[in-house]
Amino acid sequence: MSKYIQFFDTTLRDGEQTIGVNFSIEQKVQIAKELEKWGVDVIEAGFPVASNEDFQAVQAVSAAVKNTCVTGLARAKKGDIDACVKATQNAIHKQIHVFIATSPIHREYKFHMSKDQIIQIIHDSVTYARKFFDIVEFSPEDATRTEPEYLVKAIQTAIDAGATVINIPDTVGYTNPKGIADLFKNLRDNIARFDEITFSVHCHDDLGMSVANSLAAIENGATRIEGTINGIGERAGNAALEEVAAAMFVRKDYYNATNNIDLSETKNISEMISRFAKMPVPRNKAVVGANAFAHESGIHQDGMLKNRQTYEVMTPETVGADKTSMPLGKLSGSHAVMTKLQSMGYQVDRDAMKSIFPKFKEVADNTDIVSETDLNSIMKDIREAI
Ligand code: KIV
Ligand code: ZN
Repeated sequence: MSKYIQFFDTTLRDGEQTIGVNFSIEQKVQIAKELEKWGVDVIEAGFPVASNEDFQAVQAVSAAVKNTCVTGLARAKKGDIDACVKATQNAIHKQIHVFIATSPIHREYKFHMSKDQIIQIIHDSVTYARKFFDIVEFSPEDATRTEPEYLVKAIQTAIDAGATVINIPDTVGYTNPKGIADLFKNLRDNIARFDEITFSVHCHDDLGMSVANSLAAIENGATRIEGTINGIGERAGNAALEEVAAAMFVRKDYYNATNNIDLSETKNISEMISRFAKMPVPRNKAVVGANAFAHESGIHQDGMLKNRQTYEVMTPETVGADKTSMPLGKLSGSHAVMTKLQSMGYQVDRDAMKSIFPKFKEVADNTDIVSETDLNSIMKDIREAI
């Protein structure tokens, strides 16, 4: 039976932690509405205790969305939890996200606290949060660099105190797909009531593995994936949710899992985030980059003209992108040039291409992309020479 994967979007919280990104409250509301349309299950709207602006943004998003669950982030502190309670007051569906770091490096250098002190804080904060929220998500920050037995103890403490969702943050993008599999096996083998809890992952991209790690988590027991649109976020960013969603769609044979994402809205939401964040999407970015459905070499263009599945694992329409393009350049073959000329109204066949193609190559060798204007002048020269 296929399992349902919840999408938890943190573009408005972790995404806004990108250097230079500062969404206005109005933009946050617009983004939240677009995220709702895209089909995410949970929107992390901000960190209410962090600033007045963040508090108001969580309030505004809580009032604006109707079907999606809204969450605020809270350190494992009463004041943070109280701020979340107030900020999400008007949300129809809500949860809270409580976190504290559990790894030795954070315990020793950030908190100067013992393992037992952290366990006590987890117990107290989750117990307190549970008084206000039916859904309490707990994150042991830097989980992937936490000693496996201690991680089990921290998570079991949160569950016993009432946490209903356990999120595994790969805070510094340290782990890999095998590490995720081992971590989940440890949890499955040692956590009491594992099956009653929603397990989530929150992967960062420091080593370029955030999407692969998120997908590995789906294979190993996670039913919630956290990430951002376009993968924006701290340092190298978070798992790009559009890539996770596209991989689940293209490889449904493999993941055997469903979600609520309307993939055809993907390009729209990606463009909105790029515009508001003032961060252009790299041309070669998977799924939403301008080159994601563009083919340059002769062999690829020839294959595409015969059957687009030769070089595309999904159609651009699937993610709401512009149609496939085959820009003509020095690597293009005669087939693609002939097809382009025919689309421009020229009656050309393979025989005619014998004289046209060498001229095309001369032009292509000296320019990046051969434009329609270039093609028209090539055809004019040839006609005049006859
Ligand atoms: O990366 C991280 O550990 C976080 C936590 C707050 C979940 O963003
Ligand atoms: Zn994070």
